[in-house]
Amino acid sequence: MPSHANKLAQLHLATLPASLPAQLGMRYLVRFYQSVEGSRDEIILSEMQQNELVGGLLLSFAPETLSRRIVFNTILAFAPAFAVRFLTIAKFRQQFIEAIIYGSHEPEPEIAYLFVAPSQQGKGIGRRLVQSAIDIAKARNYRKIYVKSLADNSDGAKLFYTALGFQKTKVGKGGSTEFISYSRNFDD
Ligand SMILES: CC(C)(COP(=O)(O)OP(=O)(O)OC[C@H]1O[C@@H](n2cnc3c(N)ncnc32)[C@H](O)[C@@H]1OP(=O)(O)O)[C@@H](O)C(=O)NCCC(=O)NCCS
Repeated sequence: MPSHANKLAQLHLATLPASLPAQLGMRYLVRFYQSVEGSRDEIILSEMQQNELVGGLLLSFAPETLSRRIVFNTILAFAPAFAVRFLTIAKFRQQFIEAIIYGSHEPEPEIAYLFVAPSQQGKGIGRRLVQSAIDIAKARNYRKIYVKSLADNSDGAKLFYTALGFQKTKVGKGGSTEFISYSRNFDD
């Protein structure tokens, strides 16, 4: 299968600029998606229209170690970029430490990232990507899928995930970052 790492990185950067990997810039994001494409624990779902990527979803079956694994895969090539941001940007430092130390503690599969091109939002692409992720998780005998949204992004995410039958399950803190978890139980 051809790699979509470049296209995924571009769309991720445009739609989720505050996420941790996006803060390290385009070159890092390309490496991030290359690393994930080679992972046994993650699946990337994408929607293409006329050879353009219009949506992407990263599903992890080992979310508790995702950040750690990616950082260890990329740290050598990107050590200067990590170091500069770590030393100069307090918010980056905080998010980085939280992702590495706290990770995620849920045993269920997690939608780690989901994004749709702004010009294509509201046309059902996000819904289709999430449904595909659910179908894959069900086929692997999981009973539940969840997603964490930064509290800053809560309105759009809340309306979207509620429309898709998810329920708000937790408001929590990873260190000092507030997040809201939504989950969808397949038995419901
Ligand atoms: C959130 C996002 C993935 C939704 O994708 P999308 O393709 O626009 O969503 P869909 O068209 O499939 O919408 C599915 C349902 O959610 C609802 N919905 C989606 N976004 C909404 C919003 N911002 N406000 C209200 N309802 C929304 C739609 O009305 C639709 O409901 P319906 O099918 O009952 O009419 C997309 O807006 C996006 O990429 N946003 C930027 C990145 C982001 O925030 N990602 C999620 C982080 S947790």
